[in-house]
Amino acid sequence: MNLTPKQIVNELDKYIVGQANAKRAVAVALRNRYRRSKLPVEIRDEITPKNIIMSGPTGVGKTEIARRLAKLVGAPFVKVEATKYTEVGYVGRDVESMVRDLVEVSVRMVKDKKKKEVENKVMPIVEEKLVEALYQNRRVTEVEVDRTKLLNDLRAYKLEDETVEVSVIESPKPIMALGGSEINLGSMFEGLTPQRHKKKKMTVKHARENLLQEEVDKIIDMDNVNEEAITLAEEQGIIFIDEIDKIIGKSKATSSADVSREGVQRDILPIVEGSTVPTKYGNVKTDFILFVAAGAFHVANMEDMIPELQGRFPIRVKLDSLTKEDFKKILSTPKNAVTVQYSHLLKVDNINLVFKDDALDEIADMAEKQNRDDEDLGARRLHTIMESLLEDVSFNATGEHPLLDIVIDRNYVVNVFKNKSSQIENKKPKFGFSV
Ligand SMILES: Nc1ncnc2c1ncn2[C@@H]1O[C@H](COP(=O)(O)OP(=O)(O)OP(=O)(O)O)[C@@H](O)[C@H]1O
Ligand SMILES: [Mg+2]
Repeated sequence: MNLTPKQIVNELDKYIVGQANAKRAVAVALRNRYRRSKLPVEIRDEITPKNIIMSGPTGVGKTEIARRLAKLVGAPFVKVEATKYTEVGYVGRDVESMVRDLVEVSVRMVKDKKKKEVENKVMPIVEEKLVEALYQNRRVTEVEVDRTKLLNDLRAYKLEDETVEVSVIESPKPIMALGGSEINLGSMFEGLTPQRHKKKKMTVKHARENLLQEEVDKIIDMDNVNEEAITLAEEQGIIFIDEIDKIIGKSKATSSADVSREGVQRDILPIVEGSTVPTKYGNVKTDFILFVAAGAFHVANMEDMIPELQGRFPIRVKLDSLTKEDFKKILSTPKNAVTVQYSHLLKVDNINLVFKDDALDEIADMAEKQNRDDEDLGARRLHTIMESLLEDVSFNATGEHPLLDIVIDRNYVVNVFKNKSSQIENKKPKFGFSV
């Protein structure tokens, strides 16, 4: 799917409030990658990749934008912390592992897609095995067992919790290697060791999943999956490097810590420039992978990054601090807005939450004040306020009462927090909701 920058921004608007510059920048970067990939090789190689670096305080949408972008275009996406890498030659994770992680995600995506494609084809085989297992269960006590009825009940998900005995592939146990990392010998020697079947008891639900996976694996050609996954990662992959500012030393490298941070920057360079990284699925070219870096840049400046790396991140966007108006919008307008999330959650327990406009005003106002007086958490502040606000309801709702409307207006908000603060002072009993 190749969306135009405008379309991308429109889609991002459904989830992220404000930050117009950042949205435009990521949209352009994504499109530029596409444009570059369409050029003849000689020209393409002359054009350096245009990666993005985002700066801005915590909780204003840096990660959220990148994550949404990836989801939007169905691209493999990984988020990594720059601080977790160490320079090549030292103990720790080398930077190439971010590419290997991306390929893992890509393989999973391609596998899932293929699985959906073939599921219908193999379902009859799975059902036959399940009906046989169910038949064996009944044969002991019943004289005549109706297989057709079993099949119908199975298809209607009426027998999900019944325990059946089925023959499944024995999964090799992961063994602990030195240093605590897990190695799965089975996957290392995949195809070399014959797979052993073993009879196992499990619920119908579990058995269906297991048998389905087995049948799917039989007909999916893993070589094709790997190849497709590598292409997907190469052409569509997005790597989000968070905390990039933390690997920037101050102006001149003075301490050994600064030197090693510079080392990591140097290691990242060839990856963002375009190089080939070997993975267990094959070689991955990083030329068209989109890199988005982000950091708060409180202490370090972008100008302190090694110049070569600065050159590979020519698109720089600053995200704005969020205002009270932004908070109000964030509370209610995005598709996954936090008020909507709580409404869904509590609906399960027969509570119908109704948020009045003046309540949103009050919460936004509180968030802004607390961010100013306390630590600035950005939009994350809304989550802590909402959790506190609805703590009483969340605790008391049981679902064993008829549907209850709870109207949250300004008064409600003010009262809950007034009581919370007086509770701390005099340990008074709680005000609020009880059933
Ligand atoms: N502009 C925004 N619009 C809607 N929701 C937002 C916005 N900014 C932040 N949020 C909400 O706040 C949460 C935190 O945002 P995000 O993870 O993007 O922060 P960040 O900018 O990456 O901060 P950090 O520097 O701490 O990593 C998100 O899950 C999202 O729900
Ligand atoms: Mg983040």
